[in-house]
Amino acid sequence: MHLSETWPPALQQALTNIRHLVVFTGAGVSAESGIPTFRDALTGLWSTFDAEALATPEAFLRDPELVWGWYEWRRSKVLQVQPNPAHQAIAELARQVPRLTLITQNVDDLHERAGSSSVLHLHGSLHHPRCFRCAHPLETLPDPLDLSLGERRLAPPRCGHCGGLIRPGVVWFGEMLPEQALTDAFAAARSCDLLLSVGTSGLVYPAAQIPDIAWQAGATVLHVNPQPLVVRAEREFCLTGLAGELLPHLLAALVRP
Ligand code: OAD
Repeated sequence: MHLSETWPPALQQALTNIRHLVVFTGAGVSAESGIPTFRDALTGLWSTFDAEALATPEAFLRDPELVWGWYEWRRSKVLQVQPNPAHQAIAELARQVPRLTLITQNVDDLHERAGSSSVLHLHGSLHHPRCFRCAHPLETLPDPLDLSLGERRLAPPRCGHCGGLIRPGVVWFGEMLPEQALTDAFAAARSCDLLLSVGTSGLVYPAAQIPDIAWQAGATVLHVNPQPLVVRAEREFCLTGLAGELLPHLLAALVRP
């Protein structure tokens, strides 16, 4: 029996005739590639590292070498891994539905490397640093020299335009999200008929509003997470398991005649 035949009939129904699918991803989608999440006990980055010392503008100004070195260490980890079957299934889903909007909270480039395009990166990107002072993007970012060392201190490059310090291109705590990406993400959530939320704890706002916005606008919301999530009785479902295992099944369910 095909796995999708064990899913609730209302979910099976929602998977037919999708016109606009929004896929909303968090750190869990990259976990099976070997990138740590933030809040999973023991393995999450925020259980090992202090967010206040690393992920705020104040932290960068206080100790730029510590902060730049930590983000370069994270970027080096991303460069060493590959997209997993969840990223690949999402890229393929875009070819199976009339319209797909991919919104991610992740700062890696694994969706793009799996073949997805026009990804809305709500929390920025490790791969697009810019000047802390004038916001000019850094044109070339060399691969981190020593890929094996975590937590090493590294002097950030200087901006070619104003001489300011180059900062990681991610959104830090206390900062605004990229305005256009957020506007586009909210608009997509309001207009989709299915919102697929994959591998997020849903704790960081405003991104965490996106599944609710879709549900309030009448869409079906489907979560994929190894932790069973509490869902509404109507139009909201949770498939409990790993994204890399469940998303290929979801794809198969959509492409079946
Ligand atoms: P979290 O670490 O908060 O949550 C990761 C979620 O992924 C949890 O619900 C896990 O149960 C789930 N998960 C773990 N492994 C999985 C797998 N193989 N398949 C599917 N799900 C899995 O990460 P986010 O929700 O992405 O912000 O965190 C949101 C934001 O908090 C991040 O973007 C980051 C962080 O502070 C910034 O950097 C601005």
